[in-house]
Amino acid sequence: MADYDVIIIGGGPGGYVCAIRCAQLGLKTAVVEGRETLGGTCLNVGCIPSKALLHASHSLHEAQHNFATMGLRGKAPSVDWKQMLSYKDEVIGQNTKGIEFLFKKNKVDWIKGWATIPAAGQVKVGDDVHSAKNVVIATGSEPASLPGVEVDEKTIVTSTGALSLTKIPKKLVVIGAGVIGLEMGSVYARLGAEVTVVEFLDHITPGMDAGLAKAFQRALKKQGLTFVLGAAVQEVEKLKTKLKVHYKLRKNDSDATLEADTVLLATGRKPFVDGLGLEALGVTMTKHGQIAVSHWQTNVKSLWAIGDVTEGPMLAHKAEEEGIAVAERIAGQAGHVNYDVIPGVVYTAPEVASVGQTEEALKAEGRAYKVGKFSFMANARAKATFAGEGFVKILADQQTDRILGVHILGPAAGELIHEACMAMEFGASAEDLARTCHAHPTFSEAVREAALACGDGAIHA
Ligand code: NAI
Repeated sequence: MADYDVIIIGGGPGGYVCAIRCAQLGLKTAVVEGRETLGGTCLNVGCIPSKALLHASHSLHEAQHNFATMGLRGKAPSVDWKQMLSYKDEVIGQNTKGIEFLFKKNKVDWIKGWATIPAAGQVKVGDDVHSAKNVVIATGSEPASLPGVEVDEKTIVTSTGALSLTKIPKKLVVIGAGVIGLEMGSVYARLGAEVTVVEFLDHITPGMDAGLAKAFQRALKKQGLTFVLGAAVQEVEKLKTKLKVHYKLRKNDSDATLEADTVLLATGRKPFVDGLGLEALGVTMTKHGQIAVSHWQTNVKSLWAIGDVTEGPMLAHKAEEEGIAVAERIAGQAGHVNYDVIPGVVYTAPEVASVGQTEEALKAEGRAYKVGKFSFMANARAKATFAGEGFVKILADQQTDRILGVHILGPAAGELIHEACMAMEFGASAEDLARTCHAHPTFSEAVREAALACGDGAIHA
């Protein structure tokens, strides 16, 4: 008899959520994790620690820029970087220990170490071979490398090193204007660094609705971030006391350089599958190095894969959804993920959040759509809290009024977006949203006003 019904490799958001759901469904479950704490990249060196630093640096910004206006006098706080890092570590600790507790509560075994899969239904950790009726790969992703850029995680760092720099940089160059680059770039800009973001494309945040991306870039510029767009970084040269970033401007092929004391490489992530033994096992991969799956099932019997190692957005909540769906499929239930309604959030200030289709995607599809837009400048709550920058934009089908996409730049956008997600899950029209009573004064009223703008017009515009 197999030791387990399910062994999950990887204790990140995909893996640990899958494990808990498996246990809830009565399956004997273990998770293999080689890191010293559970929670994967997200909890240890990703989403959670970056949110702690974003919160701390935003609080400093509020003290420096808005306190006096509100009649809060006194010297603005200075930064004790060591303490800020301890606060961040404390937050990590609380969260990773929380998962250990959940494992105990749900009787999920944690097998400590790095796993290989010697054969279908077997997982080897150190000298021990464990058998399982099902194996789920949830090993996540790692930072992609860039030729000519040698990461040492001290002065040339990925997101991992950027979360524990020994000091706040004076001059930071960020390679890549994606989510990581902009979140960490704004942390250090608020803490006093001179931040330049070098991006290959002619716009920031690839895949984001273009109108939203433009407004977002303007907001970041106002906060002091400098952008060099249409520029491909070729090399980072390590000099005695500084770094030199060499890049090529795509429009005229000219070479240029930037000096920095710290460089953050944030040009994407790639599936982390090294050492699992997938090749020997004959697992089919996509041309992008992801594990090929159909409804999370690989081509090898009883071997499943979820999260960043598979196709789709590299987002913790996408992995969680898949973890739950796989658990349910293993337990003989349906298991379902609605890939059309997966929100994306950038946790800067203002926040950015999107769900569903962008205007560009709708145009490419040739779909007739209407746009309802409402500015936070006309939202009373936002005005009272220095958060009037940004807008809500709703895209709805021209004929049926069904909501197709929602894009928000503004206060608490990452929370507001879920009203849109819920509406879309229920197939709502913009009018359904517009006819829903929203409490006053709230940021959410801006969502309702944008929905009204899809019809006869917003009230406060
Ligand atoms: P990304 O794929 O979002 O952005 C990378 C950027 O680097 C692109 O804009 C690309 O054009 C640019 N680039 C590539 N090569 C370049 C070169 N040689 N010179 C200049 N620019 C270059 O990747 P990122 O920001 O590293 O994030 C990785 C993953 O982690 C993403 O899938 C992201 O969704 C996820 N993530 C999500 C977060 C969130 O949801 N809040 C937070 C952090 C990461």
